[in-house]
Amino acid sequence: MAVITLNVNGAMRSADVHPGTTLLEFLHDYLEVAGAKCGCEEGTCGACTVHLEGKAIRSCMVTAASCKGKRITTIEGLAAGDRLHAVQKAFLAVEAFQCGFCTPGMIMEAAALIAEGKPLTAARVRERMEGHICRCGEYNSIVKAVLQAAQELKRG
Ligand code: FES
Ligand code: FES
Repeated sequence: MAVITLNVNGAMRSADVHPGTTLLEFLHDYLEVAGAKCGCEEGTCGACTVHLEGKAIRSCMVTAASCKGKRITTIEGLAAGDRLHAVQKAFLAVEAFQCGFCTPGMIMEAAALIAEGKPLTAARVRERMEGHICRCGEYNSIVKAVLQAAQELKRG
C-alpha cells in the first residue's frame, strides 16, 4: 500500500492504495468521484475518460500511482461552478444522449478535442470519438453537439 495524492477537480485528494489501483478505481472506490463510468475496463469503450493535465485519457488504463501529483479533471469538475461547459450545454441542447452512460466520457473527450484549438469538421469529430461506444446509437447527435460547442466557444 502507498499513499497517492492527486489534484482532482482542483482539490488535493489522497488515499492509501495498492500499487496496481487504476485511476478509475482510485476515483470511484477511494474518493467517491463516480462521474467517469466503468464500462469495459480494458480501454475500448471510452466511458471512463477523464483529463490528465488537460489531455483526455482512459482512467481504467493507467494506475493512480502513475498520475501522482498530477491534475485530474472529471466530468464533475468541468463546469465553472454553476456555469456548464459549452460541451455540456450543447449535449443538453441537442439531446445527445439517451441512457447517459457514455455521456461523461464523450463530453470529456470532446472538451479536450475542442481545447486543442484545431479546426473541426464532422469527419474529424467522428474520427476522434471513434473509440467511444454509445450503446444507444446517439452518434449523429453527439457529433452535432460537439460541433455546436466548438462554434459557441469560438464565438466566445
Ligand atoms: S472502462 Fe475504460 S475504456 Fe472502457
Ligand atoms: S446514451 Fe446510452 S450509451 Fe450513449
